[in-house]
Amino acid sequence: MPTEIYDVVIIGSGAAGLTAAINLAQDKSVLVLAKGAINGGSTSWAQGGIAAVLDAGDTFESHVHDTMIAGAGLNNRETVEFVVSNAPGAIDRLATLGVPFNAGADFGERWHLTQEGGHSHRRIVHVDDATGAAVQAALTRAAEANPNITLMPDMVAIDLITSRNAEKYSGDGHVWGVYAFNKATGHVDAFAGRATILATGGAGRTYLFSTAPRGATGDGIAMAWRAGCRVSNMEMNQFHPTCLYNLEVKNFLITEAMRGEGGLLKLPPGVPGGGKRFMDRHDKRGELAPRDVVARAIDHEIKRLGLDYVHLDISHKPPEFIKEHFPTIYARLLDLDIDITKEPIPVVPAQHYTCGGVIIDLNGCTDLPGLYAAGEVSESGLHGANRLASNSLLECFVFGEAAARHIDANWDSLPPPPPIRPWDESRVTDSDEEVIVKHNWAEIRRFMWDYVGIVRTTKRLERAHHRVNLLAQEVDEYYGNFRVTPDLIELRNLLEVARLIVRSALYRKESRGLHYVLDYPDMLPLARDTVLIP
Ligand code: FAD
Ligand code: SIN
Repeated sequence: MPTEIYDVVIIGSGAAGLTAAINLAQDKSVLVLAKGAINGGSTSWAQGGIAAVLDAGDTFESHVHDTMIAGAGLNNRETVEFVVSNAPGAIDRLATLGVPFNAGADFGERWHLTQEGGHSHRRIVHVDDATGAAVQAALTRAAEANPNITLMPDMVAIDLITSRNAEKYSGDGHVWGVYAFNKATGHVDAFAGRATILATGGAGRTYLFSTAPRGATGDGIAMAWRAGCRVSNMEMNQFHPTCLYNLEVKNFLITEAMRGEGGLLKLPPGVPGGGKRFMDRHDKRGELAPRDVVARAIDHEIKRLGLDYVHLDISHKPPEFIKEHFPTIYARLLDLDIDITKEPIPVVPAQHYTCGGVIIDLNGCTDLPGLYAAGEVSESGLHGANRLASNSLLECFVFGEAAARHIDANWDSLPPPPPIRPWDESRVTDSDEEVIVKHNWAEIRRFMWDYVGIVRTTKRLERAHHRVNLLAQEVDEYYGNFRVTPDLIELRNLLEVARLIVRSALYRKESRGLHYVLDYPDMLPLARDTVLIP
């Protein structure tokens, strides 16, 4: 296939990718790739909502302060102020696109604002308990309606096209687009543009238990790293405190808004203190402490008492209140024979969000000319050592727009792509490969969970380092010798990202935010980013 040329190539069709596309497509041709369905990323799964200062009694300063307290001082204040001050405008534009945010009922507010951990004010707009699905649907509708946007599902991006892949090597490191595996044809196609935006989401599936969808394998972080971008704070993996504990359904999130609306964490019956709350013993903010604190407290209770789970209980609230606020969760759990109006929900912490990523500036620019990044793939300085609830979708809208604005403003200085060499398709498939790829995939996720989880030790991190390096050698050999498949592409990326996480965790000789290591329990006076340079 000859290279397909667009003005801008966007990899990822979630909140970040589609926001950028819609903002660019007034006068530019935009290609948006997704590795599965267009709505297959984390965006569709978001529950709680989007944080923004919308209430007269709330202030930007308070939202900035809460973000930096959750982030344990590792945030970049300029980024936090940029995102927080752009939040109300972003919410307005989403409402204009047709996102049906719940209306405020009682106090004449335009929208109902819910509460989540770490926020000192009600400031979360939402669409019941399924905000992400409504946002994804509105953005997809807008993208589909725009003739300048081409949406291509089932295209698995493999590697960025750089000057090395040009027919004539130019050596300036410019990124010109991407090679992607076409699931329909089984071939690798090349897509080029003057600018490329990475919006590939996070790397939750590096861990055995994660709330993130199957495709969250950190592909964008791995591609950017291989192409020469710096990444930072990869040790900061957020564990959500309340993922449903169920032997069949392994990754269903119970939104933090349930605690915001009065849900209580309790020990299950049959142990000392059974049926009673425990968060007040861990933090004065109780159930509404930031996520890192609540997740560690649950982990502590589970290990201390040898439990499988703890309980999240909202059954003391009126049934109508519960069904009105949490219709999706109510229906889903009723299917599993749990009636949340009458009984508590068994919950455990699970990996939820990748705070680290590809370093970007306030325009979404990465280290490489022509390459931008936005959303969970990036490290903008917003989240620091721990993301504040509902700040993530917000980051996608603000940086999706910022990248589009910068591309527009600098269009004339972005050179058109040179002729690109096609992908080498001469390699063959090995039939053994598929089984081994699956085994390796399971092994990484298991040891990342066991050795690089909520509570870490240097010894465990060193073990993980050793294992990840051995596996990486094996996979490099497959990758070098055999034809690529979607599973092999993802495995290679999972390993790359696992390596970055473990290396970063070993570098940080303190406990801060999400990185809690028993050998270094204290926080150092100076907050420093862990920056890895390729
Ligand atoms: P995603 O929405 O994850 O999209 C990634 C896109 O990249 C997809 O289209 C995918 O197909 C594509 N892609 C990935 N790799 C490739 C590849 N190799 N080739 C081609 N395409 C590729 N945040 C909040 O602020 N509020 C919430 O209430 C909230 N709730 C959440 C609930 C759950 C269960 C989860 C998992 C997350 C939640 N988050 C929430 C976090 C938030 O949803 C995500 O951080 C955010 O949606 C990420 O958006 P994104 O556009 O960066 O990536
Ligand atoms: C949730 O609804 O608890 C998730 C919110 C978030 O991840 O920001």
